[in-house]
Amino acid sequence: MKLDATLVRKLAAKVGTPFWLYDAAIIRQRIADIRHITSTPGVQARFAMKACPATKVLREMANAGIWIDAVSGNEALRALRAGHAAGNEPPVVCFTADVFRDNALDVVLKNNLLPNIGSPGMVRQLATAGYRGPISIRVNPGFGHGHVNTCDTGGPSSKHGIWPSDLAAVRDAATKAGMTVTMLHAHIGSGPQFAELHENLARLADEFAALLPQFPALTAVSLGGGIPHHYRDRENQISIEPLRELFAACRAKLCAAAGRELRLEIEPGRYYVAPAGTLITTVHDVKRTLTNAKGTGETFAMVDAGFVDLVRPAMYGSYHEIEVIGKEGSQTEPIVVAGPLCESGDVFTRSGGDELLQPRDLPRPEPGDLLALRDAGAYGYAMSSNYNSIGRAPQVWVEPDGTAELISRRETIKDMLKAETSERL
Ligand SMILES: Cc1ncc(COP(=O)(O)O)c(C=O)c1O
Repeated sequence: MKLDATLVRKLAAKVGTPFWLYDAAIIRQRIADIRHITSTPGVQARFAMKACPATKVLREMANAGIWIDAVSGNEALRALRAGHAAGNEPPVVCFTADVFRDNALDVVLKNNLLPNIGSPGMVRQLATAGYRGPISIRVNPGFGHGHVNTCDTGGPSSKHGIWPSDLAAVRDAATKAGMTVTMLHAHIGSGPQFAELHENLARLADEFAALLPQFPALTAVSLGGGIPHHYRDRENQISIEPLRELFAACRAKLCAAAGRELRLEIEPGRYYVAPAGTLITTVHDVKRTLTNAKGTGETFAMVDAGFVDLVRPAMYGSYHEIEVIGKEGSQTEPIVVAGPLCESGDVFTRSGGDELLQPRDLPRPEPGDLLALRDAGAYGYAMSSNYNSIGRAPQVWVEPDGTAELISRRETIKDMLKAETSERL
């Protein structure tokens, strides 16, 4: 779907660039897709809110009955503030981490959230804090997939979860401390290949079924997130419909193995929000280098967004489709799109491999043109930073009737200095 150029220009004039644009209709469609594949009784979807923690998005999830996976104390507080219920009956907000840091343990205890522990030592910390309730254990099943190796969340090189042969010891330590293991969880990564995900989820359900006899108090099993979005071919998304049958079959298998009713959970993040978010940026200049003995000359479109806004290309070599607003269908040429930061890696057109630059065939932009970096709704604003003290860009939410709402304003120097202090210790 193309962006409405008039609307984008109007919003850019109002809030400045760069800014984030969220299309409510797309988020709602993606929520409907997930609700459909989890519509079998006993199957429950969460939202891995790390992908896009805006209150507006969290409220859409709450209204649709989607539960939350939070990974920090403050994420959990955001979810509760947005209307998600506290408590563990049912555990609407689950706290997943390998380490309790900052206020995390405190928030879990005060709000009675289900802790999903990814390291054995977390049982000790919970016990020391006097916790006696249910816990979930995040398992490292020994296999997984990622869109890059650093996103692979299962296997010997993964820091996430507890290795299967250590599970019994963790269960015993938890039982001794008065806790009950009520959920087993694994997240096997965020890979782009649907067939691989399907196969790994089925394998994971089998592994969990084999573990069930060791966990007699289990009430739920979570297969994690990782439902892919096609960044490179955004108009041709793979249907996730087969997952409905898969989740129904996985749950039936687990219930049969347990001899009782179990809840099956999933917790996608990117699928809900990736296509709904676009980063809009202005071209400030177009310049070139010439071919010499060191390499090939390039044409650079210099834009006002950088990896402080959207870090995925710099971090993972991720691909985001780029549109030059109002120039669709014009003749194209290879263009490198680069940002304002004093970092040579501040380039949006990168390859997934070792090469720094991968020019993109785009209509030649002129200074003043707006560029749209598509599919930036997941791990976009959420991963933006205050590097270079630039301040995070504003987020704008657009309803299907074109009504726009500013849901977070541009950060100012005042925001950035707010935490600075000179307290004597
Ligand atoms: C524990 C856990 N669950 C779910 C997710 C969501 O993954 P995705 O956004 O690929 O669905 C992540 C992502 O890192 C995760 O770490």
